[in-house]
Amino acid sequence: MNILIANDHGAVDLKKRIELWLSQKGHTVRNLGVDSEERVDYPDIARMAVQEFKQGGFDFGILLCGTGIGISIAANRQPGIRCALVHDSFTALMAKEHNNANFIALGGRVQYRERPEDLLEVFMNARFQGGRHEERVEKIDKL
Ligand code: RB5
Repeated sequence: MNILIANDHGAVDLKKRIELWLSQKGHTVRNLGVDSEERVDYPDIARMAVQEFKQGGFDFGILLCGTGIGISIAANRQPGIRCALVHDSFTALMAKEHNNANFIALGGRVQYRERPEDLLEVFMNARFQGGRHEERVEKIDKL
């Protein structure tokens, strides 16, 4: 897969860990995040990531900040973006099957019960179920 990843200073270690994991699995990763702990503003990171995503060619994007909250809110303000802030493998599965999320968000300062890699694996292996979910996603896009 071709995956875009972006992060603020609150998720540098998590970004590096995910980027390495994805690369080792043979995926192409475009890193638009920061690699130092110097403070940046997550809305700027979200805007840059979405602009790049909209150029096309990406299967999905990963957005990371301290909690995943701010960067997912900022991403979701932008038309066409469905960024799912997931917590476990169930929400990661639903994010794809029901919401057809095109971005997934995680927090670098969050203690997850499962490995973030496992949540991503679930998301990447899932398929959008369409049907009634398609109609709902279309309604989101019209809001
Ligand atoms: C940065 O300190 C922090 O606020 C940010 O990474 C994120 O957690 C915001 O939602």
